[in-house]
Amino acid sequence: MKEKFIELYSEHIKRPGAEKLLDYLETSDFFTAPASTRFHLSEQGGLVKHSINVYERLLSLCKYEESRNENFKMPETETIAIVGLLHDICKTNFYGVEMRNRKNEQGVWEKYPCYVVDDKLPYGHGEKSVYIISGFVKLSREEAIAIRWHMGYSDNDFKAGGYSVGNAFGKYPLAVLTHVADLMASSIDESE
Ligand SMILES: [Fe+2]
Ligand SMILES: [Fe+2]
Repeated sequence: MKEKFIELYSEHIKRPGAEKLLDYLETSDFFTAPASTRFHLSEQGGLVKHSINVYERLLSLCKYEESRNENFKMPETETIAIVGLLHDICKTNFYGVEMRNRKNEQGVWEKYPCYVVDDKLPYGHGEKSVYIISGFVKLSREEAIAIRWHMGYSDNDFKAGGYSVGNAFGKYPLAVLTHVADLMASSIDESE
């Protein structure tokens, strides 16, 4: 999965700073981190797998939209790669492992490792991904908004009564498609 990620990344993301951003990913836990503590792909390498799934889902959603909607402006592949592959970069250096106790099949207590949230940079979720990426490469407004609102109506801002996600979806089709791609990846591709 790591190899596939690097191949897609290097093939499609060429703007200034892209190599430094990839170096950053290499020095972080991006390629070993899980995608969640207990929901989808809660396993080593889950995050990189999920990122590829979202990229692939987003690419096919964009192609579908292009085929049926003449007003849809097909994004550059670089944009689809940046948004898909990096939307959850906020989950790097975000998880830790804790030992917990449970009874095994013989009824004997045993310790087992468990992923927990240990956020080293508490900056939110989509907004944190935009913040981290922007430290290396310049994002277009469309890319920044798609990444910022990829959680859709599960975003804390919406839950607290904010309207920005709906406004963003109305203005930026890529933001809608990114949210749908994320949902399809986590709920269909990665369901157990
Ligand atoms: Fe996310
Ligand atoms: Fe995601």
